Amino acid sequence: MKTTATFKTMKKNNEKIAMVTAYDAPSAKLVEEAGVDVILVGDSLGMVVLGYDSTIPVTLDDMILHTKAVKRGAKNTFIITDMPFLTYHSTIEETMSNARLLMQVAGAHAVKLEGNGAVIDKIEQLTKAGVPVVAHLGLTPQSVGVMGGYRVQGKDAEGAKQLIEDSKRVEDAGASMLVLECVPAELAKLIQGQLSIPIIGIGAGVHTDGQVLVYHDLVGYGNGHVPKFVKQYTNISGTIIEAVGLYVKEVKEAQFPEEKHIFSMKNEELNRLYG
Ligand code: KIV
Ligand code: NA
Repeated sequence: MKTTATFKTMKKNNEKIAMVTAYDAPSAKLVEEAGVDVILVGDSLGMVVLGYDSTIPVTLDDMILHTKAVKRGAKNTFIITDMPFLTYHSTIEETMSNARLLMQVAGAHAVKLEGNGAVIDKIEQLTKAGVPVVAHLGLTPQSVGVMGGYRVQGKDAEGAKQLIEDSKRVEDAGASMLVLECVPAELAKLIQGQLSIPIIGIGAGVHTDGQVLVYHDLVGYGNGHVPKFVKQYTNISGTIIEAVGLYVKEVKEAQFPEEKHIFSMKNEELNRLYG
């Protein structure tokens, strides 16, 4: 199985890292079979699986449940699990305890947390305790309430400077990897060149060490709004609607089930039944 060391080597060798999210056993099994390098059990599950309109309502229990399912589906792939809203901001004890549950109970190989200044000490202490930490900067969806919406980050020189600084700080604190979300491609390229840890981009251009996409966005499964940075490689929703629509029609017209789908009784048993 690939590890944090593999990902660092991949960066050194200019070999791109392909990350995708998964939330349950079948999606995990399929993305593993497709050859992804690493799976992210993202708290985006709140939006794409649980139907919330942000990631704020997602709980640690949700992350544990879904990580366990992913783990059963993809036994040979490195799994990163998001620490959800406000599970790594109060005491270090609570942060440690939550990370312990995600790794020891759920089976994650690493945890991911959003932010900069406020969580630097958490990144450092988790890493020192043996927890591989993936940092997430740029657009950080758990802060949607403070940011007032989902926008590209680091577009002006001050914002960009801050992001470069924050990136260095998370690396210095011990982060194993950095996810950059919705930042100008020029800025992501700069950060990629200055840091030795792998930079995984989403809406951050092609000059990062790898990419991550949300599974449901990538396969076109059930999503309404599709952000600019998403490439939909297929439209599984259309396939599902067509198949289920056909099923409904065949039920209504008594064309399903067919002969090959049914069970029968022997004639002598039927005769006995009718007496
Ligand atoms: O929750 C998630 O899916 C993420 C990725 C978009 C990076 O954090
Ligand atoms: Na996330």
